[in-house]
Amino acid sequence: MSAPQELVELAAELAREAGELARRRRAEGVHLAATKSSLADIVTDADREVEELIRGRLRDARPADGFFGEESDAETGESGVTWIVDPIDGTVNYAYGIPSYCVSIAAVEGGTNPDEWRALAGAIFAPALGELFTAARGEGSWLDGRRLQVSEPTGAGALLATGFGYDPATHEGDLATVRRAMTMARDLRRAGAAALDLAYVAAGRLDGFFERGLKPWDLAAGSLLVSEAGGSVSRFDVDTERPMLVAGSAPVHDRLTMLLREQS
Ligand code: IPD
Repeated sequence: MSAPQELVELAAELAREAGELARRRRAEGVHLAATKSSLADIVTDADREVEELIRGRLRDARPADGFFGEESDAETGESGVTWIVDPIDGTVNYAYGIPSYCVSIAAVEGGTNPDEWRALAGAIFAPALGELFTAARGEGSWLDGRRLQVSEPTGAGALLATGFGYDPATHEGDLATVRRAMTMARDLRRAGAAALDLAYVAAGRLDGFFERGLKPWDLAAGSLLVSEAGGSVSRFDVDTERPMLVAGSAPVHDRLTMLLREQS
């Protein structure tokens, strides 16, 4: 098994290269390749090209590892390490020209189920913002060389972020969740890229984050960033199609979990 430090260096290098490709393609103009689960759930040519680049580089560098990405077929490896990849998280932002999008790459051991894997390394690069977040198990979370720490509680309430699924049938339930969360909030953000939301929790720019129905590639690198920055992350209702992910400093995570569990 490889050391987390070795894995995070590769993840960071690939996230930068892939992010630069995404940014270049954005400047050339976005082409919608297809819609997925609903009309709002889109994939661009760049999502596919960026994932192909990452996958090819990983195949060259670590041919025995598995791969699990948003835009292509999964592949089981023999080394015990699997790469969990979102080539462009925040695709709708990307398509609209909003800079909050990122490449998210994580290395995990133990398969592709977030409740069973052990994350080893993660990198999230936001090319339009020029920020690289990294974490290696036991080595902390970092933003461009600065060690990250989740926020300390203040008396003002928590600055929370959330996201919504693409299926309009889920909006009502998600809004009911927001209503509950607001009882502990100073304000709420919906920036449009879950991986970046988690990175911001790690950086103390948000006090907490919650969202139902995230996919493994949305949360793999970001969850490791939060826990390595001293925060807590958990999922519940994992036997449903839309498990709830909650992340934050321990007090915010615990309070949010209590409020949102009462509803489910
Ligand atoms: C989406 C973003 C969004 C979240 C959605 C995700 P994508 O990922 O992370 O913030 O609310 O649940 O699906 O589709 O842009 O890779």
